[in-house]
Amino acid sequence: MTTTNLKSDFVIVALDLPERESAIKMVDQLPEATFFKVGMELFFSAGIGILQDLRQRNKKIFLDLKIHDIPKTMEKAVRVLQSTPPDLLTLFCGEPGIRAVKSAITGDSPTRVLNVTVLTSEEESGSTRETVMERARLTCNAGGDGIVCSGWETSAVRSMPDVPPELIIVNPGVRMAENGSDDQKRIVTPLQAKQAGATHIVVGRPVTLASDPRGAFLRLLESF
Ligand code: C5P
Repeated sequence: MTTTNLKSDFVIVALDLPERESAIKMVDQLPEATFFKVGMELFFSAGIGILQDLRQRNKKIFLDLKIHDIPKTMEKAVRVLQSTPPDLLTLFCGEPGIRAVKSAITGDSPTRVLNVTVLTSEEESGSTRETVMERARLTCNAGGDGIVCSGWETSAVRSMPDVPPELIIVNPGVRMAENGSDDQKRIVTPLQAKQAGATHIVVGRPVTLASDPRGAFLRLLESF
């Protein structure tokens, strides 16, 4: 289980930046931040080395690649990643894919496997909540450790009888009152996410594009 003892572990800062140098600069500007997201943009540019850079700085890593392929291919890819294992890894798949990935992760690895449900950039529709709950159910059935969903569906997932209380729930689409929503649609504040039962939030632009990223991060920490 990812430790959430530190209040700062609740907030995962998304390093949605184009290359290693600017990403490291951002990490070093945020000494109080303990958990960082590496997504496709930075991973494609900087490779597995960026995970080593974060480890050397004692940071936790959320590797958000939303992996989806045939189970064997996913399993082999995740085996390679275990050379520098992330703390959280996202998939966007069904039960066979989750099972295959879990089989590539040994007991002493810190990697916890999360399944994406419905992207927070998508508008709410009549079926969003049901879809998120269904994906939470299949993730638990397959032995996944958690899900990514918006704060709008988090309390519904927490109230499902077949969802264990230790399920990790990561909410992107988080904004404070002072922020715009960018392309996110189903947004919540950090406090709303926490109260709904999220274990982590992912925050990118409100911190990384702020004129004072450290100040923005500290204000965010104070807000819940
Ligand atoms: O800049 P912003 O705070 O909107 O960034 C949110 C981050 O969370 C992005 O890195 C995005 O890829 C990620 N994310 C998301 N919705 C999901 C899964 C991940 O917005 N369902």
